[in-house]
Amino acid sequence: MRILGIESSCDETAAAVVEDGRVVLSSVVATQIPFHETYNGVVPEIASRKHTEWILPVVKQALSEASLGVSDIDGIAATSRPGLMGSLLVALTFGKTLAWALDKPFIAINHMLAHLYAAHLERDIAYPYIGLLVSGGHSIICKVSDFDDIEVMGTTVDDAVGEAFDKVAKHYGFGYPGGVAIDRLAKGGNPAAASFPLPSLHKGGHEYDVSYSGLKTAVINQIDQFWNPAFERTDENIAAAFQETAVRILLSRLLKAVRDTGITTVVAGGGVAANSRLRALLAERGELTCVFPSLDLCGDNGAMIAGLGYRYLARGDRSPLDENASARVPGFRRFGRPRGT
Ligand code: KG4
Ligand code: ZN
Repeated sequence: MRILGIESSCDETAAAVVEDGRVVLSSVVATQIPFHETYNGVVPEIASRKHTEWILPVVKQALSEASLGVSDIDGIAATSRPGLMGSLLVALTFGKTLAWALDKPFIAINHMLAHLYAAHLERDIAYPYIGLLVSGGHSIICKVSDFDDIEVMGTTVDDAVGEAFDKVAKHYGFGYPGGVAIDRLAKGGNPAAASFPLPSLHKGGHEYDVSYSGLKTAVINQIDQFWNPAFERTDENIAAAFQETAVRILLSRLLKAVRDTGITTVVAGGGVAANSRLRALLAERGELTCVFPSLDLCGDNGAMIAGLGYRYLARGDRSPLDENASARVPGFRRFGRPRGT
């Protein structure tokens, strides 16, 4: 089965054709970074307008790079949630319309579950595993029993980890996107240049939750308090010290989830999964099998949408053509925990 996957939940217009959930025949990602750079953040109106302009050429290019005509596609998958409403509507409406016009099966995809599926495009991964979903909008530690059976164990109680990277980078003028800029700067800095406090969230049902607002405030407003005077206050040192704490917050909760479940395979996904320090620290854990997608599959892309779409479509699942977009995931607490837990 060849599935066309379409994605426009944030600031990348993306389309890909994937065969049998595994073989990426094409993957086209048109990034809007230059349009949002001036504002140091995604401007929703610009994002949705660019998606509208680009969706048709991007889909055409994905088909042409796969050497396929549109009628050779066996099904269409498009992101429907979560994300920016105006952005989401573009790929979703485009996907539903194409499915209707071609009379092909359609499936709506949860963007975060697709990030988790990205690593499956490159290798076989046995279930269960612990998922680490880290992006600009989410920080989720979950137990993954199957592609559609995911129990959220922990999430952020405030900012997402990628959001913290972006806000710190914006404050210090490090560049955009913030995570990429900080990762690059940190390579020339020393993580010991400052000792930022770790959040204490282990009590009251928050054993696996993370928090980033304290770290963000410490780095932006109280850096003098935590700075080690033996180090020069360079951009590189600020970036390295911030990044070290941001990654260690994730690791402490992730390793607790591993210990408590006895599950030793960890699969990462989302833009922050590209972080070199996170990858290096997890690679040092000899007791774990850590799976990271290739860098081009960490950020938003159509291949992960097509790959996960295949898994649903192959077993006969279909979404109705009146399926709507949703900025948040229905049935989940703001950052992903199911209601009532
Ligand atoms: O998954 P993604 O492309 O879009 C969302 O679904 O949010 O993730 C974007 C986030 C941004 O916050 C960006 O700064 C962060 O991923 N990011 C990184 C790195 N590359 C992207 N954060 C840390 N280190 C990186 N190398
Ligand atoms: Zn994403």
